[in-house]
Amino acid sequence: MLPRFNALQVQTISDAIEQQGYIVLPSFLSEHSVQALVSRITSFKKEAFKKAAIGRGFLQQQNSAVRSDEIHWLEQENQTDHDFLMLMENLRQQINQQLFLGLFDYECHYAVYEPGNFYKKHLDALKGQSNRVLSTVLYLNDDWSAADGGELILYAEDGTTKLQTVLPAKGTLVIFLSEQFPHEVLAAKKIRYSIAGWFRVNASDSRKVDTLE
Ligand code: OGA
Ligand code: MN
Repeated sequence: MLPRFNALQVQTISDAIEQQGYIVLPSFLSEHSVQALVSRITSFKKEAFKKAAIGRGFLQQQNSAVRSDEIHWLEQENQTDHDFLMLMENLRQQINQQLFLGLFDYECHYAVYEPGNFYKKHLDALKGQSNRVLSTVLYLNDDWSAADGGELILYAEDGTTKLQTVLPAKGTLVIFLSEQFPHEVLAAKKIRYSIAGWFRVNASDSRKVDTLE
């Protein structure tokens, strides 16, 4: 059984989102909670993944110059995925109570970056053009050191001032406002596992762009 977010965790996240728009939480999930997700992502066969695309609906395109990771959306039918989705559902409800963001749902996918893969600087949502409000990334890698590369770099709104460099170490959770923070994934020297997700509001036009180069 995965833990729920406790009141202190929710308060910490809500305060940070309100005051600075993002938060990096090292060792946020316990070893036990993360382990099931690690087992799952490492058990997928190559065919279970697809090349990640940019944008949604009729605007969707694959652009391997921008990103070269491979993804697998979480499935409610799988117990491990279900537990994680329930945990994030719990966070969604508690954040809504604190921040009145009107978050409507959450979608997320496993992502595998083979050595050398990357995701160039991008925004997860363009102002007024996407229903993605809050981005999350959870990392699933054992023993990650700076020499392994694969860092997430979070930039200020100007797109050049570096705010944070995050090692994709197991259990670290990053949360940031999707429209506000350009970010990129540097190429890693070894395989890099994560779960990227988005809390969304209920937009009526689902054809709008969700991610941009
Ligand atoms: C994304 C993304 C960051 C990461 O999937 O949109 O920016 O560190 N991922 O994996
Ligand atoms: Mn992103």
